[in-house]
Amino acid sequence: MARHPSPAQSLVASPLSRRSFVRTAAGVAGALGAGMLTSCDDPPTGVRSPVAAAKGGNGNGGGKGGGASPRNPLRIPSAGSPPSALTVGETTVDLGGGQLSRVWTYNGQFPGPTIVVEGGSIAAPGDRVAIDLYNDLADETITHWHGMIVDTPNDGHPHQAFQPGGSYHYDFPIVQRATMNWYHPHPHEKTGEQVAMGLAGGFIIRDAVERSYGLPTGPREIPLIVRDAEFDRSGNMIYKPRSGGFEGKYFLVNGTLNPTLSADSAVYRFRLMNGSNARIYRFAFEDGMPFTLIGNDGGFLPDASVQLYEMLLCPAERVDILVDLRDRLGDRLMLRDLDSGWDLLEITVDNDVSDDTVVPVTLPSIEPLGSPVREREFSFDGMSKINGQLYDMDRVDFQVPFGETELWRFTTNGNAPHPVHVHGAYYQVISRTGGRGQLYPWEAGWKDSVLLEDGETVEVLIRFDGYRGLYLMHCHKLEHEDMGMMSNFEVV
Ligand code: C2O
Ligand code: CU
Ligand code: CU
Repeated sequence: MARHPSPAQSLVASPLSRRSFVRTAAGVAGALGAGMLTSCDDPPTGVRSPVAAAKGGNGNGGGKGGGASPRNPLRIPSAGSPPSALTVGETTVDLGGGQLSRVWTYNGQFPGPTIVVEGGSIAAPGDRVAIDLYNDLADETITHWHGMIVDTPNDGHPHQAFQPGGSYHYDFPIVQRATMNWYHPHPHEKTGEQVAMGLAGGFIIRDAVERSYGLPTGPREIPLIVRDAEFDRSGNMIYKPRSGGFEGKYFLVNGTLNPTLSADSAVYRFRLMNGSNARIYRFAFEDGMPFTLIGNDGGFLPDASVQLYEMLLCPAERVDILVDLRDRLGDRLMLRDLDSGWDLLEITVDNDVSDDTVVPVTLPSIEPLGSPVREREFSFDGMSKINGQLYDMDRVDFQVPFGETELWRFTTNGNAPHPVHVHGAYYQVISRTGGRGQLYPWEAGWKDSVLLEDGETVEVLIRFDGYRGLYLMHCHKLEHEDMGMMSNFEVV
């Protein structure tokens, strides 16, 4: 396997070495073919649960030797300009096939509406987003725009949480390039519950550079928000926190149980995101089909796209992938999680079309951040502390000068995985030593969340050149975050 000890090497690996170090999926996928998932939590006979109808195969609730899972059409969240209002509240939704479930939603939709805006820069801002957030929950809330570079009043800091019946006004310009971000609640000690209960939505930024690539769009550009979930005996969403992280027995893609997508024989662009509280996924196609990675958290990868067979994504990580179905007419494909054995998304290539999409080989360069002027070390301790301290909303743990490149070193002394997330700026991951001892293609370029496993030290370069103000760094395993693995810092 290729090692990537320096940024230069990690960002520009030869196609051959990249290919060889990700070539493992095909064999493994076959071995995981059957009976990986059994449910210990089936409802008693006669009680209708959204998951009861989904037994069989490697779908939800599938047991050993099960037949084909009934599949439900994949929900595509509505997409458009920012709504003037977002209301969080409880809604009964159809998870597929008429299986009703009470979940928490933005504007009654699960996942929330996909917000689509035009990008820009600090010097030349793109769209302006003005949204009133209304709280119809029984508890306080606030929404954070994960991955968005916004000033402190718009960042959804737990200090800004507000009570049921209240509202909060957001107003911010878009000052970054094209990518897919997301939004979710961020109230103190309640983020895990509110996300697990359903509150999340996609946030897509467009720009001219992206348009110049002529990528698939419309019905061939599809966000895939993957998460696990837990239900009570009547099929309503429930949250069962564990200090090691919430892991549900069922999976949802865009809020759909056992989804299926009827596709054209064409190139598809999937904006794939791990929206789980704690679960990590090893995404691959069941038959070992390669796909092309073109972007991640902060937009296009640097310099070149990468062919992959599998990807390990921690909570909050996003990838932008192209899947070429032009030679697959009549085939049935399966996007699988190799770790759980879940068959997350069935794709049937039903419609014969001609498509001349060019899958990009070269992508825009990203300037490396360069020599850091100082270093900081952050130890993710146990399940609730950073550098030995529990989160305190009112304590500012450190100050970062605006516009200076720093090296931040993340370590842990056990109880990982910790997905390390920073608000207010993207970073460039330059090394991982110990543990897996390498960087992966989906960790190149601009990142806001990176996986730290036990025994690993991960170094990133970061520079805050958006806004001065109060921001957060935390573990994005939401139960760790809620227990205190979070830190306030100030960009000065
Ligand atoms: Cu997606 Cu502070 O988090
Ligand atoms: Cu964030
Ligand atoms: Cu953690």
